[in-house]
Amino acid sequence: MKKMVIEGGVPLRGEVAISGSKNAALPLLAAAIMFDDSNNELFNVPDLKDVATIRQLLVSIGAEIKDEGDRVVINTSCINKYEAPYDLVKTMRASVLVLGPLLAKYKRARVSLPGGCAIGARPIDFHLKALALLGADITMDHGYVEATAEKLKGAEISFPIPSVTGTENAIMAATLAEGTSIIKNAAREPEIDDLILALCNGGANIKRVEPSTIVIKGVKKLNRLSHFIMPDRIEAGTYMAASAITKGEVVLKNINAVHLRSVIDKLEEAGAKIRIISPSSLMIKGPKVIRSVDISTAPFPGFPTDMQAQMMALMAVSSGLCVITENIFENRFMHVAELRRLGANIKACNNFAIVKGTDHLSGTEMMATDLRASASLILAGLVAHGITEVSRIYHLDRGYEAMEKKLASLGAIISKVDAATPSNDNEVANENILAEKYM
Ligand code: UD1
Repeated sequence: MKKMVIEGGVPLRGEVAISGSKNAALPLLAAAIMFDDSNNELFNVPDLKDVATIRQLLVSIGAEIKDEGDRVVINTSCINKYEAPYDLVKTMRASVLVLGPLLAKYKRARVSLPGGCAIGARPIDFHLKALALLGADITMDHGYVEATAEKLKGAEISFPIPSVTGTENAIMAATLAEGTSIIKNAAREPEIDDLILALCNGGANIKRVEPSTIVIKGVKKLNRLSHFIMPDRIEAGTYMAASAITKGEVVLKNINAVHLRSVIDKLEEAGAKIRIISPSSLMIKGPKVIRSVDISTAPFPGFPTDMQAQMMALMAVSSGLCVITENIFENRFMHVAELRRLGANIKACNNFAIVKGTDHLSGTEMMATDLRASASLILAGLVAHGITEVSRIYHLDRGYEAMEKKLASLGAIISKVDAATPSNDNEVANENILAEKYM
């Protein structure tokens, strides 16, 4: 097991290249199932643990995947199993994204129920209702969802609240259904439009006719998947927050500035100077004094829940008082207790956190609890006095490509080192339980 060791206090300077989007890569890899081609290809695939997990899942159902230079080649013509086993789904809920494609292409899928996760219960009822409306017969058996259909038929699906992966599963299933489907109250996240673009380039007929309405005219067959994955807007936002918290000056390359609007607006409100250099690059200069700003998470184009923890670290060293409201997940404040150990003044109650900025965080040992919480602890460590150690950083590897290397290239004093080996069987067991629960 590894931990991150950071010596705080260095303003970040230089250029950082943002990787391909995790949340776009996962549905795109799942979508490859529907193409039945030996030469599907994806470019700009990030090297992340979650991506490795979905690749492992595709291989376990018979696909062949290889890396060839900057492209990942996926042969899905040899799929011969239709099951996502518990061992994989429990480590990554997004494994549920194979449900729609398997059902669309093979009319059958058996996918383990993901169970709860560190940030909330996160049910998949919307996914299942959408697939049932498209004609799937869905049963539960021994913790697995079993979905079968003689054929899928176009339907009107209306989500009670927008769900990102729910919308993706519904789009993928409807793509090969007979007739027209309409998805209302669809999620508006750019990763969904990246998926739509890739599917349409491969022969699908999908249009976002209004911001929250997507119309899919089913096609009999798709051709070949070939797509360059969009940049990771959450990784970009995290480096912007890192630049702001250290009062540094950083140029981000390989971004899509349009996707970052709500994050840019909040950071500017907090006093950062941001210059869009081109559609794919921007410069951010941290403020001398970080102003407090209230933050309230919302579905896109609102402020992303996946940036809430990182902004809380920034607000922890702001000049005043602010309220951070988490509206998407019910248990997404686990970083609060850890940030307080550094000296942050934060009180959380229900889905609110009140943050009173301080000018002094002092480095200590902390424990990461989920992906974005881990990033917030690293950001706080970058500005804390002395040494900060963050353990359980396997969470970070799920969603940040070579974070310590990218931060070090910007001048941060940071390294990934071996953590002490647990000293007895109980500790080993605890580590294993936590590793699974929080992945
Ligand atoms: C996706 C993102 C995740 C991000 C989240 C919200 C991926 C792989 N993950 O997760 O990084 O934090 O969007 O932007 O893209 N809900 C239900 N029933 C369902 C589905 C969702 O009640 O069947 C609820 C959830 O509990 C949550 C809300 O809907 O409160 C939105 O969740 P959703 O958009 O589905 O999140 P994910 O797609 O799992």
